[in-house]
Amino acid sequence: MRPYADNDYPANHKPDWKIIAGLWPYLAEYRGRVILAVSMLIMAKVAIVTTPIALKYIVDYLDQNRGADMVLWIPLMLVLAYGALRFGSTLFNIVPTLLEIAMVAGILLVAFNVSYVLAILVSVVVFVVFSIRVTEWRTAFVREANNRDNQSNSRAIDSLLNYETVKYFNNERFEAEQYDEDLDLWEQARLKNRTSMAVLNIGQAFIIGSSMVAIMAMAVREVASGQMTLGDFTMVNAYLIQLFIPLNALGFVYREIRQSLVNVERLFGLLGDKPAIEDAADAKALAITKGDVQFHDVRFSYHQERAILKGVNITIPAGHTIAVVGASGAGKSTLARLLFRFFDVNSGSITIDGQDIRNITQDSLRSAIGVVPQDTVLFNDTLYSNLAYGRPGASEAEIHHAVRQANLDGFIRSLPDGYSTRVGERGLKLSGGEKQRVAIARVLLKNPPLLILDEATSSLDSISEQAILDALNEVTQQRTTLVIAHRLSTVRDADTILVMDEGQIVESGGHNELLAKDGYYARLWLQQQHSDDETSAEN
Ligand SMILES: Nc1ncnc2c1ncn2[C@@H]1O[C@H](COP(=O)(O)OP(=O)(O)OP(=O)(O)O)[C@@H](O)[C@H]1O
Ligand SMILES: [Mg+2]
Repeated sequence: MRPYADNDYPANHKPDWKIIAGLWPYLAEYRGRVILAVSMLIMAKVAIVTTPIALKYIVDYLDQNRGADMVLWIPLMLVLAYGALRFGSTLFNIVPTLLEIAMVAGILLVAFNVSYVLAILVSVVVFVVFSIRVTEWRTAFVREANNRDNQSNSRAIDSLLNYETVKYFNNERFEAEQYDEDLDLWEQARLKNRTSMAVLNIGQAFIIGSSMVAIMAMAVREVASGQMTLGDFTMVNAYLIQLFIPLNALGFVYREIRQSLVNVERLFGLLGDKPAIEDAADAKALAITKGDVQFHDVRFSYHQERAILKGVNITIPAGHTIAVVGASGAGKSTLARLLFRFFDVNSGSITIDGQDIRNITQDSLRSAIGVVPQDTVLFNDTLYSNLAYGRPGASEAEIHHAVRQANLDGFIRSLPDGYSTRVGERGLKLSGGEKQRVAIARVLLKNPPLLILDEATSSLDSISEQAILDALNEVTQQRTTLVIAHRLSTVRDADTILVMDEGQIVESGGHNELLAKDGYYARLWLQQQHSDDETSAEN
């Protein structure tokens, strides 16, 4: 399994035809238009390749009848035809250009001799091979420049988001240097990109130039020896110009297509990224009858090498509260993430009223569970919007009620802007305890049948904590609740307390029962009582 989808560049790139094939379904929608465009193109190409022939007849007619009493309407008609053909020959593309080359080769073969056809074909082949090779070689630089660009951007965003940490450690200069290094790499990549582009352009121009010179020299010799008329010469010249201009453009189009394919590849990479968790094909909506939650021998690891949960069994009878305590890193929050199905268990199962959560839709599962997470992050919006997020569409009265239950009303009244106060990025303008109470208020607003409270009151002073615990007690009374806590005093009223250590439940029972066992929990309790006594003695 992949806990986190990484958006990095796919290491092995797909062949172009696969990327293009992937585009086909999107094009197929416009099949009619595609067919129409292709037929128009073919007609335009027929027009374009016959234009130089009209030109030849004009020149030859003028040349042969010079001085003689020529009939003016014949060349004028030819000029008119020439204009019409030129008009009919506008737009270009790779396939039509190849079609055009084939037609021109045919005409030259019929009109002159095979040496012109060979000369043109050789230059076209040299041009195409050169363009493809150099463009391939360049693609790596295009990719690199894109990657460097992404990298420096995300670095900049990261250091701006974490500006507090940057300042705590006085690391502005360090961050600036890192960013500078990234930009440096980006610059180098851009430079390689540009230089290789110049190599491509100069090379293409050179191939076209020398081919033109060679073929025109052939034609000049034949005109001089009388094997070719002036009109023939003009025609060859017109064909060359007509062929090489689109050929040059073709180089440009190929480059653009390659570049776009790099982007399309990336797009498909993102589109193809499967979510770590997907609904089963026959997933049903969760049907809560009582709200019974069970973990059956659950094993789980984020990475194969390190087991986090090693066979956990938990039963939370409907409407009961189970508390989980234990050392940091024991896997407590992981239990909550698995129940919310951010990840799937490796083995064992989690059921709600007997339904394996892998067989129900994520939507119905997640709307049934309210979570107050260990770290609350808010949107950079008003306090009101952040509260209303718990249930979009909730009435103002409902929001005020939840705010009172979460003991947040006094705080909001003290704010000059009240509910309209903006909370800053990730909610950084609120204190830790205020953020926690916002999180509690919006879960109360969501009003789900199942509750997970992960250190929900850890940032509060004892007085606010007690007030909220009382409020929460009222709420949790009718609900199946999983409470995770460090401070044992906050969970002593729970129906059952589970003690977790290194991914296993090592003890369970009521508070007094566990104290009587004189084990892990009793030690933890004594320790905390002791430090509490010390704190109160100091005060
Ligand atoms: N997304 C993740 N990828 C990899 N490892 C993770 C991930 N989340 C947590 N872990 C690891 O799993 C272990 C259990 O984490 P968990 O958050 O469940 O601990 P916890 O019992 O809630 O601890 P605490 O009391 O400090 O909150 C930790 O050692 C942690 O490093
Ligand atoms: Mg935790």
